[in-house]
Amino acid sequence: MPQPVSTMRIVGYGMTALGKLGRSASELMREALQKSLRSAGLQMKDLDGLVAVPSLSHPHFMEAHYLATQVGLLPHRGPGSVRVRTIDTGGAGPVSGLLEAARMVKDERCQAVAVVAGDAVSSLATPEFLARADQGCRDPENSLPSPCIPHGYDQVAQWQLRQGLLSREQLAMVSVLMSRQAAKHPLALTRKAHSLEDVLRSRKIAPATNLLECARRADGGAAIIVASSNFMDEYMGHDLVSSEDGVSSARLGPVAATGGLVVLGGGEASGPLYPPEEIDESMFSCEAAAASAFSEAQLLPEDLQWFGLYDCYPICFLRALEACGVTPKGTAGAWVEEMFWKTESGYDAGDFPINTHGGLLAFGAPWEVPAMYNIIEACEQLRGTATGRQVPSVRRALVYGNGGIFSHSAVAILAQPV
Ligand code: CAA
Repeated sequence: MPQPVSTMRIVGYGMTALGKLGRSASELMREALQKSLRSAGLQMKDLDGLVAVPSLSHPHFMEAHYLATQVGLLPHRGPGSVRVRTIDTGGAGPVSGLLEAARMVKDERCQAVAVVAGDAVSSLATPEFLARADQGCRDPENSLPSPCIPHGYDQVAQWQLRQGLLSREQLAMVSVLMSRQAAKHPLALTRKAHSLEDVLRSRKIAPATNLLECARRADGGAAIIVASSNFMDEYMGHDLVSSEDGVSSARLGPVAATGGLVVLGGGEASGPLYPPEEIDESMFSCEAAAASAFSEAQLLPEDLQWFGLYDCYPICFLRALEACGVTPKGTAGAWVEEMFWKTESGYDAGDFPINTHGGLLAFGAPWEVPAMYNIIEACEQLRGTATGRQVPSVRRALVYGNGGIFSHSAVAILAQPV
């Protein structure tokens, strides 16, 4: 009998608590990895691939090799081989890692690949955090003032304000919207929605950026497991396609038991490491990454029912709305304002099907981890398990990760299994 066409799937995912946890990044990565394996019904020995993104708080030479050594994947013993890779595309890392894991499964015939991220930037004292964060983003030729990251994004926000494409209030409304979403997620750090005044009156960090418009620093870890549907069928003794018929296997975890989530396509593109002195459209890369993802998935924005958009600063989210086709070019500010009023006094999740966890601004932002939260929330929405914030009938979802100051973009499109 011919083999069914194999698809790349997320078959497990897991995350630690968020907050100021006083634990090392490696401990958080290990806990998240164990949880993701459990939700797949796999064991550490089933993995033959591991992708990790580096941590700022506890950096290690060859992060993925370090983690693989700690969990016993290296040195490798027994038949076959294990492939271990560290991917550093900044905050885009988890989505780059997802796409790399899908390639490893498809082209390198890996059976199951974990993608892991963890960091403890909330437990780092602020001067130490800023020394490390500034160092990565400061152009020796054209120093941004410290804190460099908020100032870098602020320069882009100011550029768009000067063009008359959005207003200062519309930038602040992004943070309000994210806090409204976070208030519905049990694990989010922000428990109560901000008012527009809260955001506009919070401490000024850069000319057009206040404290409540900065990614909310946190400690936390998150991981996913990518495998082919054929592997899950053959090795786990379970036909994923017929799982809806009630066929189940004790070995499969809850995510794998319902077929996991299909990786339909993805795309990546890069911008400059340092924001240029003269900002223009050429520094942005989300448009190209999204176009590649839509092309590979053979879909259009209107085919998607949920979006996980990177929102380290409001300007990143506003640009992503246009780059990913949620709203036409030049209209993101007005669109956000419309959403702000629409969700002002209670709303259904389907009214605003974006970042239903609250994003970096309100869910929590452990440095390079947060795009993994976009992926995990997409999985929850696709599985229909986003209790209290479920968008109706989500069949396909887009996730976007952004690294540095618009320095790298990675976009993936996920779907329910058919
Ligand atoms: N929402 C709600 N509360 C927030 C918040 C937010 N968005 N941001 C900060 N707060 C809270 C903090 O939790 C803290 O609360 P407690 O006092 O209850 O602990 C309080 O406001 C003060 O915040 P900080 O302790 O962080 O204040 P600070 O003066 O020490 O530092 C800051 C201020 C320098 C702006 C620092 O918060 C900061 O740098 N934030 C931005 C972090 C950042 O840029 N992350 C990377 C984003 S870019 C990216 O993601 C791409 C990549 O490649 C990594």
